[in-house]
Amino acid sequence: MNHGRILIVEDEPITRDVMQSLLEDWGYDTMSVSDGFEALDVIGTFRPSLVISNLVMPKMDGIELLRRLKHELSHVSVIILSSQGTVEKAVQAMREGAYDYLEKPIDIQRFQLLVEKALEREDILTRMELVNRDLQELGVFGDLTGKSTPMRRVYSLIEQISPSSASVLIYGESGTGKECVARTIHKMSPRHNETFITLNCAAIPDTLIESELFGHEKGAFTGADHRRAGCFELADRGTLFLDEIVEMKPDMQVKLLRVLEDAKFRRLGGKEYISVDVRILAATNKKIEKALEEGSLREDLYYRLKVFTIELPPLIDRKEDIPLLIARFIKEFNSKHGKEIKSVDNDTMQILLNHSWPGNVRELRNAIERAVIVCNDELIRLNHLPVDLQQNTQQIPSISINIGKTIKEIEKEVILKTLDYMEGNKTKTAKSLGISLKTLYNKL
Ligand SMILES: Nc1ncnc2c1ncn2[C@@H]1O[C@H](COP(=O)(O)OP(=O)(O)O)[C@@H](O)[C@H]1O
Ligand SMILES: [Mg+2]
Repeated sequence: MNHGRILIVEDEPITRDVMQSLLEDWGYDTMSVSDGFEALDVIGTFRPSLVISNLVMPKMDGIELLRRLKHELSHVSVIILSSQGTVEKAVQAMREGAYDYLEKPIDIQRFQLLVEKALEREDILTRMELVNRDLQELGVFGDLTGKSTPMRRVYSLIEQISPSSASVLIYGESGTGKECVARTIHKMSPRHNETFITLNCAAIPDTLIESELFGHEKGAFTGADHRRAGCFELADRGTLFLDEIVEMKPDMQVKLLRVLEDAKFRRLGGKEYISVDVRILAATNKKIEKALEEGSLREDLYYRLKVFTIELPPLIDRKEDIPLLIARFIKEFNSKHGKEIKSVDNDTMQILLNHSWPGNVRELRNAIERAVIVCNDELIRLNHLPVDLQQNTQQIPSISINIGKTIKEIEKEVILKTLDYMEGNKTKTAKSLGISLKTLYNKL
């Protein structure tokens, strides 16, 4: 059974029956009615994701029905059927939000294609709506956690590019979530039921990468005992994620580019061409300009891949996401390690918020896993953190202030202690206090 319920609204019995039996043959769940009022009666229980409606009908015309449907259902695509002489009205229907129109007599192939496309779009819209609800409520977008402004920018890019098959180049420091982004794009795309394959170009020796990508025939090289399918074949109709693309040798990049342009290739040692439909997502943690300059990323491949680029912010630029990430990882590792940890205590949270996270989310995730393993309490405390994180803070002395001091006195104490800690370096002191050097001199 295909996904999606389709409601047919048509006053002409023959057209109506023909359409219904076609759609049922194609595996859709269908229902048919003969006018707009009947349609509005059944949508509450049938809940169609697609309505195919005649334009000119007695009682209520297609445009009026379209308006009311949009009012009643949050998600529904409408295809309008027009006859000769009503095309202008059909165009008006599109302006009012119809997905498309189809002229009678109906061209069956075009009909089938239009239905597929409309349902696909509905499916994606529904998924996006669910994902956005999760974002509001949980701060989670697909595989990604975070609500910060830079992450929201990433999410809105993902929403824009997911429905298409365009290539995407993802850039971000190591551990910022490039693979999570790739998986999320796949999950939100029409390919979500197909395979997602990752090839880490840095982890495969140069000599093997070609056969990894394209597969080989038996006997193609020493050690090739069997025919083997490559990533392109395995990812057919799905998505291929090429991680650390700049680690691929330039001559391989040329071959890759050729496959992207022709959508076909030969297995190593093979004669016939194999056609595939693969969406490519690629990632790199090297600055793209730099990789181009050095020649580790070929310009022609770059132009092919960069139809869209997504840049992921380092964790230090989105610290407000840290508490959400911690909560997510505690939950994940609680169930992995059979623990019931609730949270982290305040001091520990401060440390985690103040750390610079050179290893980004991966480093945070590892720190939390370690803490969950060693913690036998409800709260993760300082001593559960990796030693380097604990030391971070023990070196920073604290200031304690008794109630009763004036703001002026407190300010003086903070300035002098900071200056002391910075070993008299006034520039560093001013920076740490968040004031200008001039202000610092004035206060001193
Ligand atoms: N925004 C995020 N939300 C939740 N987990 C994340 C996020 N970003 C990264 N991670 C986790 O951090 C680790 C590293 O992410 P990954 O996508 O492999 O990073 P990269 O490919 O950029 O090195 C993975 O375990 C991943 O699940
Ligand atoms: Mg990675």
